Amino acid sequence: MSSSCSTGGGCGCGTNIETSQRPLITKNKVNEDLQEYWDTIYTVVDYQKNGWYEEIPKKSLELIQQLNLEKTARIINIGAGTTTLVDFLLEQHYENISATDISSTALDLLKDRLGNNSKKIDWIIDDLTNPTLLLDLEPVDLWIDRAVFHFFTEVKDQETYLDLLAQKVRKGGYVILATFNLKGASKCSGLPVRRYNELMLKTKLEANFDLVESFEYTYTMPSGDERPYIYTLFKKI
Ligand SMILES: C[S@@+](CC[C@H](N)C(=O)[O-])C[C@H]1O[C@@H](n2cnc3c(N)ncnc32)[C@H](O)[C@@H]1O
Repeated sequence: MSSSCSTGGGCGCGTNIETSQRPLITKNKVNEDLQEYWDTIYTVVDYQKNGWYEEIPKKSLELIQQLNLEKTARIINIGAGTTTLVDFLLEQHYENISATDISSTALDLLKDRLGNNSKKIDWIIDDLTNPTLLLDLEPVDLWIDRAVFHFFTEVKDQETYLDLLAQKVRKGGYVILATFNLKGASKCSGLPVRRYNELMLKTKLEANFDLVESFEYTYTMPSGDERPYIYTLFKKI
């Protein structure tokens, strides 16, 4: 697998949309443009073909299982997209789940898949790099982010995200943070990503969180393409 992409196309996440279909991201209007960008991806690509799509989110489920959370625990799925993790959490009778994403198109697809069960989820459309609705979120017991934080390549966006994370996870609560690892592609869906190892993530979070566990995991897509991740579990101090 190539660890970089010279074309600026969809390499790294297996999501190729034509250049003409991709909205231009300008510096001044990045939030709305970013929303349109992700909405377009979820409109033109069958979500099951996206490079991050997992039929069974095995590693996230294993980490959640070991936490032995109450079924009433407050859980937020960050940049949920069309993740099947929400389906599994409902199946396991978790009662207080929120799902947030910048893309309403993604969340609509997820709602459609869940049918009536979608009413059990608190849906929040917001930008993690410029949060508004998320500022009103009650602190959670578990924050789950797979394949989202690595898109924030600018330090100011990382800091905004990390401030929100520190505010919105209760003391003793947990964070599952999974990003591309150092062997991962340098782009995903045509956007640059920042790749991490354990120390890099620990350094980012250590002011407010203890690292409990971390491991590397390479997800193999049905096509055989590989996506090397690092999974980390943190506990709020
Ligand atoms: C690679 S997908 C991962 C989706 C899901 N977490 C999963 O593992 O299947 C990244 C997701 O992050 C969302 N996203 C990207 N930038 C965002 C931002 N600034 N605020 C909120 N969500 C964002 C995208 O819309 C997309 O659904």
